[in-house]
Amino acid sequence: MSPPLYSSLNVSNIVLSSALLFAITGALVYAVRKATKRHRNYVKVAKVCKLIVYPIKSLPGVEVDRLDVTIHGSAYGPFRDRSWLLVDNENRMITQRTEGCSKLAMLTLQFRDNQLWVDGPNMTTLKLNVINKANNMVINTSVFGDAVDGIYCGKEAEDYFSAYLDKEGTKLIQHTKDMCGRQGFLEVNGERLDRVSKYPILYHDNSGLLVINQSSIDDLNGRLPADALSTTYRNFRPNILISECQAFDEDNWAYVRVGCVHFSLVKPMDRCIFTTIDPNTGRKDGVEPLKTLRSYRLASDKLRKTYGTSPLFGAGIGAETEGQIQCGDDLLAVWKQ
Ligand SMILES: *[C@@H]1O[C@H](CO)[C@@H](O)[C@H](O)[C@H]1NC(C)=O
Ligand SMILES: *[C@@H]1O[C@H](CO)[C@@H](O)[C@H](O)[C@H]1NC(C)=O
Ligand SMILES: *[C@@H]1O[C@H](CO)[C@@H](O)[C@H](O)[C@H]1NC(C)=O
Repeated sequence: MSPPLYSSLNVSNIVLSSALLFAITGALVYAVRKATKRHRNYVKVAKVCKLIVYPIKSLPGVEVDRLDVTIHGSAYGPFRDRSWLLVDNENRMITQRTEGCSKLAMLTLQFRDNQLWVDGPNMTTLKLNVINKANNMVINTSVFGDAVDGIYCGKEAEDYFSAYLDKEGTKLIQHTKDMCGRQGFLEVNGERLDRVSKYPILYHDNSGLLVINQSSIDDLNGRLPADALSTTYRNFRPNILISECQAFDEDNWAYVRVGCVHFSLVKPMDRCIFTTIDPNTGRKDGVEPLKTLRSYRLASDKLRKTYGTSPLFGAGIGAETEGQIQCGDDLLAVWKQ
């Protein structure tokens, strides 16, 4: 009865060699992809001149000398970007756009003694510790239609923000590491593919990291009418501010690398009235710089359908790898094909 034995051996040989071939192909594809990432045709286009982290959504940021980049965006040690959020007495998200809340612009934040300290005009200092585990009341809210949770940060923070905004029941909540991130938005040829799990975000608007070119801000200031206030990066809230830029339009980036961290372009950043709030006084009675931006930064062609009359300013990027980036690092980019 040897023939059947042979044939069964042959069958298992075939199965084995197919599996091997499959594994080798897989390993090759992986190696090629990795090598491609490393050897993409990067061109040095700028230098990182400022890094900014915004621990509490919609409050001013903190300038730092380094950022820890993760797939969720950025962090400065334990302080993750947009990991705190204010909600009102009905648990609805509060931002500077919320009626009566633009004075959030006048708060100052700093990292001291492993805490986040918040100071405001005529206010004492609020000292916040990072909550690592969901050990307190969970509050549910929504950020642009996405349901999200947060841990209630306690009565002291509630009293502080309720008094500062003069709105009873204003609560601070925090995202903890054991909670799920939201999914970012990805644009492809003007189509908004809403649910892309590759770039999970916390309480960000729609993209975990934002890059802005200081020359673009200077250029904008040159176009503003004489009676409008000059803008600074604070009007646009980037995480990465770049300078010494080559002519290499951020609209046409496909990939970006800073230090050893690789990013993909996620979306151009569409702008709203937030940019018109004066970052020094919290006043929002002007139309600039939004009006001027609309005159030369509206999306063209296919993207116009998606962004309408929101001008585009800055590049939303998502991290493909994790690591630390520093002020002074070069920013390299690859053109879209
Ligand atoms: C701070 O308090 C002083 C004195 O009461 C008052 O004049 C000033 O308007 C207050 N500032 C703010 C921003 O509330
Ligand atoms: C919290 O969750 C409940 C039940 O899912 C929902 O009805 C409510 O709208 C949520 N609250 C907010 C502020 O999104
Ligand atoms: C920076 O902005 C200037 C002015 O808008 C532009 O000419 C240049 O191409 C930009 N460079 C990069 C790297 O974004």
